[in-house]
Amino acid sequence: MKLSPSLLSADFGRLLEEALSVQPLVDCFHWDVMDGHFVPNLTFGPPVVNALRTRLDLAFDIHLMIDRPAVYAPQFDVRPGDTLLFHLESSDRPEDALEAIASTDAAAGITLRPGTPLESVFPYLDDVSMVLVMSVEPGFGGQAFMPDAVDRILALREHIGSRNVEISVDGGINSQTIRSVVEAGVDVVVAGSAIFGLPDRSEAIAALRRAAA
Ligand code: DX5
Ligand code: ZN
Repeated sequence: MKLSPSLLSADFGRLLEEALSVQPLVDCFHWDVMDGHFVPNLTFGPPVVNALRTRLDLAFDIHLMIDRPAVYAPQFDVRPGDTLLFHLESSDRPEDALEAIASTDAAAGITLRPGTPLESVFPYLDDVSMVLVMSVEPGFGGQAFMPDAVDRILALREHIGSRNVEISVDGGINSQTIRSVVEAGVDVVVAGSAIFGLPDRSEAIAALRRAAA
């Protein structure tokens, strides 16, 4: 299991310090890009993520909660190993978003709102390296885990079969919920408030790893 801290719950005035404080303890970073249209919240975009990209070593998973992902994906200065994830419900055709991401050095990932039928992603499983299962409505950190995500992960695992596609889960992950998603076969677990909401980040990360084991 890879652990991917979401900086959405970090202190935005100290984003680099916050990321550096957990970098030795985690596997990649999760960046929640929001546009105030696709979701009712605004965070940061390419200028901020690109500045941090030059100063951090681990891979970036860039979660685009935005309309027109095909326009914005190429504006991220990604590296091989990074993943650009767009929502299947966004305004662009998935084919256009995939083509835009293919023009970058990042791999492509698709993510689904909790209410979107899981089958909608099946036609794209040969085109992506990651599917992100949302276990909260996208837009805000600190929400309660939606347990239906466990069945969605199990079904997705079965449909992925032998393809080289990672499953990630995002939203409401904490020491109480992490075990269920790991048992369902998730590869990458995103956690925001369960890491950056606590004063001792190394203890928070150790607690998540203990609960997952
Ligand atoms: C929600 C974001 C999540 C969020 C997770 O829209 O996509 O990445 O930061 O936060 P927690 O772990 O607090 O639910
Ligand atoms: Zn996210």
